[in-house]
This record gives sequence, C-alpha cells and structure tokens, in this order.
Amino acid sequence: MIHSKNIIAVKQLHFHSIIFFAVLIFFSSCKEAKKNNEMQIHRGITKINWGTADDKPVYLYTLTNKDGMQVKISNYGGTITSIIVADKNDSMGNIVLGFDSLSGYLAKPPYFGATIGRYGNRIADGKFKIGDSLYRLATNNGKNHLHGGIKGFDKVVWDAAATVDSVPELSLHYLSKDGEEGYPGNLQVTVKFWLNDDNELSIEYAAQTDKPTPVNLTNHSYFNLKGDVTSTILEHTLMIDGDYYTPVDSSLIPTGEIKSVKKTPFDFTQAKKIGERINEVKGGYDHNFVLNKKNDSLQLAAVLTDSSSGRQLTIYTTEPGIQFYSGNFLDGSIKSSDGKPIDQHSGLCLETQHFPDSPNEPGFPSTLLKPGTKYHSITKWKFSVVK
Ligand code: GLA
Repeated sequence: MIHSKNIIAVKQLHFHSIIFFAVLIFFSSCKEAKKNNEMQIHRGITKINWGTADDKPVYLYTLTNKDGMQVKISNYGGTITSIIVADKNDSMGNIVLGFDSLSGYLAKPPYFGATIGRYGNRIADGKFKIGDSLYRLATNNGKNHLHGGIKGFDKVVWDAAATVDSVPELSLHYLSKDGEEGYPGNLQVTVKFWLNDDNELSIEYAAQTDKPTPVNLTNHSYFNLKGDVTSTILEHTLMIDGDYYTPVDSSLIPTGEIKSVKKTPFDFTQAKKIGERINEVKGGYDHNFVLNKKNDSLQLAAVLTDSSSGRQLTIYTTEPGIQFYSGNFLDGSIKSSDGKPIDQHSGLCLETQHFPDSPNEPGFPSTLLKPGTKYHSITKWKFSVVK
C-alpha cells in the first residue's frame, strides 16, 4: 500500500518537473528565435556614411545575396573592403585584406582591394609615345610609373549609384581629367560590381576618352581564403590557365619576351601549392601570365583553393593577362583593424589585366583607347566550397 504522504510527494515532484521543462522550452525557443533573427538575411544593398576625403562624402556599401554572402565596397578608391563567404563548415569569414574604417585606407596601404587605373601595373620610366608625341607620367615606383601614379583611381572619391533590380549592384563613376598624372584625354570611367545568388561577384569596367590614351583597369584585392591574416597563402593551391608569362627585369618591368612556363616555377597549368617553388623566384611571384584565350569573351583564368577552409575562388575574365602577386612587399608594418600585423604572403593578388608596360611594348596586345571607341572588360569571381 502506498502511503498518502508519498503520493503527495510524487505529485509535487511531477509538478516541479513540469514547471522545469516548461521554463526550459521557453528559454530554448527564445534562443531559437534569436538565432533565426540573427540569421535573417537581408538580400540587397545598404549604404552607410564612412567619412570624407577630398571634401567629398565617402560611403560604404554592403551587397548581400540570398545565402548571406556579403561584399563591402567603398566609393573611396572603388575599394572592396571585405568579402564574407562560407567555409566548408558553413562558418562565414572575410577572405580579403582590408580595414573596418576609412582611416586605414587614407594611410595608403598597398592598394588593398582598390580599383586600379588609369593603368594597372608599371609603365617603364613613366613615359610612352603615341605617334610622335611623348607623354611623361608621374613616377611613384623608383623611376617607373605604377598603378596610375601618385594619386591613381585607388585614391579618389567616385560617384556612386546603388540599385537592386534582379541582383544588388553598385555603379561607380569617375572623370579622370586630361593631364591627370600625365595621361592625355578626359577619361570617363564606370565600374560596376554586382553579386548574384550563385556567390559570383562580377566587376565590369567601361571607359571612353576624348584623346588617345592607354587604359588598363583592374582590381587589387588580396585574397586569403582561410580568412586568417595570421596565416600565409603559401599552402593555397593555384591553377593559372596560362602556358606563357612575361619575364621582368630587376625593377619588375617586362623584358618584352613571352616565355613558356613549362619546367619553371611559373608552371601553374596544373594546380599546385604556391609555396612549392616560390623560393626559386627571386622576391616571390609578381608576374603577368598570358592567358590561354582564343578571344576576348569571358573565359576561365585561374582557380585558387584553400583545402583547410574548403574555400575556392574561380576567376573568369575577358582580359588577356593576369598578374599573380604573392604579397611579397607586405612586411607586418601595416596592422589589420583588430591589430594583427599583415605579414609577407598573408594575401595574394590575381589582377586580371593587359600586360604591364604595353604602351612601350609593340609586341603586346594594345592598351590604346581612341576617341569614339569603348573600353570594356569584365572579370567574375565565383566563390564555392570543396569538401
Ligand atoms: C602590384 C605589383 C607589385 C606591387 C603591388 C603593390 O601587384 O605588381 O609589384 O607593387 O602591386 O604593392
């Protein structure tokens, strides 16, 4: 026979456990609701004030797609400040070198994420001829001209317009005036960035001039697919669809030769680790590869993979070349926004482009833009995960 006191005790226990479970369910549903809220993805484009430069307002735009991939771009320098993508464990991380605030960029880092122009890479001795006219450019890399000069497109404030039609898109416009950094002609430049739901970021460049001028536009993002500035990119594997490259002299000016990569450390035709033969290349990789392209349609240029995070970047371009720069000049003197030193090889650039110094190399594809014609170039970065 069960004693009535015991029955009361059992009933009380029952009551307490019901209360306990009810409270537990309440808290866990709150937690779930919070998580869902945090995970709520606002596909589209947002804009915040980011300061001023040259007395003009600077903004930071965030493009977000349906999976929550985000690309942040500023109209200062047409700069990509972060690209946030998932790794193989669905954890989101930023995979480009950049800063959280404008001050990082005003301190002139080596072109982090910037739009480069009027001419990407070097022009020997900062001079070139068009017909019989000799043009002298600003020299900012020893005796050479680099990435558009002292105040290239990476250091100017662009006009910006954001739209969301089918996908979030940011359109930047800049008028580079006749004589700027020594270049002839007023150049109207438009750069459009759009992010689709397949984790593809496209960058489209267009330009028109009123006098013949060389033009070579690119983007200078430094990738670290691990999303960790304290680890180098030497373990990343790289494939470049280029059987030839353009060798350079000691000041990184092309010699004019177009040389086969076969049996050299420049052979990336089959994916290989960047660190595998980098020690055989004096100073590290900083070379233009000639892409195996038959025409100027959008075609595969390179595939970069980090097996530790599973992140992969596939690059397509309409350009004939790609500059592979392994972050050789980074030396820890610049700090990330959270105070970590940005050391050598902590990021790498894959700059789709025409070849360096083309205005002085008649054997290279021409970079001359004439009035009445249009400069047009597209590069697409596809981000994916390999397990
Ligand atoms: C380019 C050049 C490099 C270096 C970097 C910026 O990629 O090829 O030599 O100047 O820009 O530091």
